[in-house]
Amino acid sequence: MFVSGNLMSYAALLYLAFGIVAAVVLKYFVLSETIRKPKKNTILILGTTKSGKTTLWAYFRYHRLIPTQTSMEKNEVEKPIHCKEKSVVLHLMDIPGHPKLRNEFHDYTPITKGIIFMVNSSTLKSDIQEVGENLYDVLADKHVQKLEIPILVACHKQDLKGSLDRSDVENILAQEIDKLRSTRQSSLQKHDNDHGNNNGDGDDDADETTEFLGFENKKFSFEDLVNHVTFVESGTRYKNEDFGGFSDINEWVVELFD
Ligand SMILES: *[C@@H]1O[C@H](CO)[C@@H](O)[C@H](O)[C@H]1NC(C)=O
Repeated sequence: MFVSGNLMSYAALLYLAFGIVAAVVLKYFVLSETIRKPKKNTILILGTTKSGKTTLWAYFRYHRLIPTQTSMEKNEVEKPIHCKEKSVVLHLMDIPGHPKLRNEFHDYTPITKGIIFMVNSSTLKSDIQEVGENLYDVLADKHVQKLEIPILVACHKQDLKGSLDRSDVENILAQEIDKLRSTRQSSLQKHDNDHGNNNGDGDDDADETTEFLGFENKKFSFEDLVNHVTFVESGTRYKNEDFGGFSDINEWVVELFD
């Protein structure tokens, strides 16, 4: 009785030790998997059509300015870039600006390192509604906010008359988002009243875009966002032609990985 009791506890100890080792090994694998899995090297290039998105994407890819066309397909490439101390492989994605397709970007925000939002500075005034809505959807995306993804607004100009500079672009966009904020908010409240409490788990678009931008009772400003939003100018003949006129954009991308 004494002996078999001893054996029993010996076996139990063995099981326990085995269990601990198994748990540690399992935990190690699960951890390393979650650390390795989301390679956050994606740069999303967003904006409405004719904003210069694909020109920028192609420049990163080929280091040349090539003529591009409006497309209904996204462009994607893995491309190494040299930062100060290391080389990183960028995953560059140019999402079509067509209203039916541009919200595809929501699927990629969890693996996104930075977002470049292109604006055609010569047509912003006439396209302000569409551009404003597009930018609003980007800023209000729950992953964009939760992961505090940095955003670069590139004011793309091509020596065209009436091109706005970056402070004009910032002011006009801030005003438009301020307006949209109140209309979106009241339509959300209406949605809540019509369908009971919307807790954000619905499968419609609203569940991606329910975050309030900035502070209530205060005029919208990009500085009030948790995301760092930077404005630069670009243009194939504008300022300097280094990096195809995209040198400020390139610098911003390099700094993201440094
Ligand atoms: C910006 O808009 C103007 C006017 O429609 C157009 O000529 C120009 O090509 C556009 N820029 C880009 C980069 O598409």
